Amino acid sequence: KRVAILISGRGSNMAALIDAAASPDFPGEIVGVISNRPDAKGLAIAAAKGVSTSVIPSKGVSREDHDAALDKALAGMKAEIVCLAGYLRLLTDGFVARWSGRLINIHPALLPLFKGLNTHEQALAAGMRIHGCTVHFVTPEMDDGPIIAQAAVPVLASDDAEMLGARVLAAEHHIYPLGLALVAEGKARMEGGRTVFADFSE
Ligand code: GRF
Repeated sequence: KRVAILISGRGSNMAALIDAAASPDFPGEIVGVISNRPDAKGLAIAAAKGVSTSVIPSKGVSREDHDAALDKALAGMKAEIVCLAGYLRLLTDGFVARWSGRLINIHPALLPLFKGLNTHEQALAAGMRIHGCTVHFVTPEMDDGPIIAQAAVPVLASDDAEMLGARVLAAEHHIYPLGLALVAEGKARMEGGRTVFADFSE
């Protein structure tokens, strides 16, 4: 499957996806990285790894116009699956609907807990003893789509949000490629607002 990645910043999950997809038996090929911010650090990382990059600015552009430009770029690269990797611009319901079941995201918490921002602070404030990350299908409601894969990490008594966030990020880099592979192989599909998993016994 042809996979495009949308980023806004650092791009460490993007890099993990590119590296995983470089393995010959990975069921997806990263055909392009698109950033809505020209200064996203991930752009140079993608280019250094030989992946073509483009910038589709969102600043001062309506959501509709921005998403139309995105659709055009994705069609141009014949993308079949879109991975959000730290993409900080809200997508229109129309875009989400068009890519339904083919649009996935990683969120740095164990959904449905701790949606939105500052998830590590939220987990610490709640007194959680475990925390983690979630790969999920994107639906119009933010951080709400059907779950594809999760990983849990311990919360240590000495943790601050930064230390906990680093532990979660390392887990993100493991499960995002796993989640993408499940979708690319058709082993995890979105159906009726749920994730349906293939029978692994086959
Ligand atoms: C990650 O924590 C991801 O879970 C969240 O945004 C952050 C992006 O980091 N959606 P990076 O750009 O992948 O390094």
